[in-house]
Amino acid sequence: MKLLPMVMMAITAAMAFPALAQEAEHDYVGVAKCRTCHKKELMGNQVAAWRDGPHHRALETLKNEQSLAIAAERNLGPPHEAAECLSCHVTAHGVPPIRIAHDLDAEDGVQCESCHGPGRDYRKKKIMSDREVAVAKGLRDPAENERVCTACHNENSPTFDPGRYVLPDGTTMGFHFGMAKERILHPIPEDVKGKFVELEKKLKAEGRKVP
Ligand code: HEC
Ligand code: HEC
Ligand code: HEC
Ligand code: HEC
Repeated sequence: MKLLPMVMMAITAAMAFPALAQEAEHDYVGVAKCRTCHKKELMGNQVAAWRDGPHHRALETLKNEQSLAIAAERNLGPPHEAAECLSCHVTAHGVPPIRIAHDLDAEDGVQCESCHGPGRDYRKKKIMSDREVAVAKGLRDPAENERVCTACHNENSPTFDPGRYVLPDGTTMGFHFGMAKERILHPIPEDVKGKFVELEKKLKAEGRKVP
């Protein structure tokens, strides 16, 4: 019975802030907790692709000259410490500490969970390999959801350039979902997709290491 008022409050909050509704119950764990499985070659090593891509360096960028100039113009102090910059350049900025299950390293910039959703409840192998269950536990599919990207890729970015993306017909856009996705691809190999756990089991049964 005591729970009822809290449930009512949660429902009211979810209606008032629809963007928070789906995320509200899940906590962040950081890329360190995705690494165990997603750095494997068999899986397609998404961690390496991300590490070599633009998002991993997002905090580092806030320390360069261009950032210092932007911050100086706005009297913000050091940009890598300013909320006005960190909100899009690191994962889970401004999220209450109670929802951070493991400390995130700011040096890792924009991590997996900024796009795939906070991972504490979906990161177990059994859950991860059943997509429907994983989604129920907070996994987001950014493949079909442009808003995951435009939360940061929008005019509030001081370097947003309406001419950044040039379409084949010459049209320009500040952000183009399809083209942008192509620039950060990190797929599971086609012959592994949906079968990772099975293939891993087979290798282990043969006494082989999972690459
Ligand atoms: C609304 C989200 C958002 C905010 C707030 C934000 N950035 Fe960024 N930043 C981005 C995105 C997205 C990019 C990738 C390029 C683009 O579309 O602007 C980026 C790229 C950059 C770059 C690289 C330039 C380039 O052309 O790729 C610099 C430098 C930068 N940001 C500095 C800052 C500084 C300094 C602040 C704080 C004053 C800040 N950003 C605040 C989202 C943001
Ligand atoms: C900037 C957003 C972003 C970040 C950061 C990101 N991803 Fe993704 N991820 C995507 C998108 C978008 C797709 C879907 C691409 C497509 O199929 O169009 C995807 C797809 C995937 C897939 C499925 C691939 C497949 O073949 O079905 C896995 C696994 C994955 N990401 C894991 C990770 C891990 C692990 C990290 C961190 C190391 C990470 N992602 C970081 C946006 C992101
Ligand atoms: C949490 C904020 C955030 C989210 C969400 C996000 N990005 Fe980014 N993205 C950035 C920042 C910041 C940069 C600039 C990184 C740098 O150069 O330091 C960037 C840079 C990029 C770049 C290189 C610059 C460019 O525009 O060519 C691509 C491509 C990109 N992001 C694609 C995506 C895609 C696709 C998604 C959604 C699936 C996405 N991003 C979601 C913050 C974000
Ligand atoms: C204990 C192992 C393990 C951990 C830890 C793990 N994953 Fe996974 N993940 C998997 C497996 C297994 C699959 C399914 C692979 C397949 O297609 O067979 C998967 C699939 C995915 C997919 C693709 C889902 C789909 O079907 O579109 C994404 C995205 C993803 N993981 C992101 C993450 C992120 C982000 C983290 C960290 C918060 C993480 N994973 C942690 C094992 C793991």
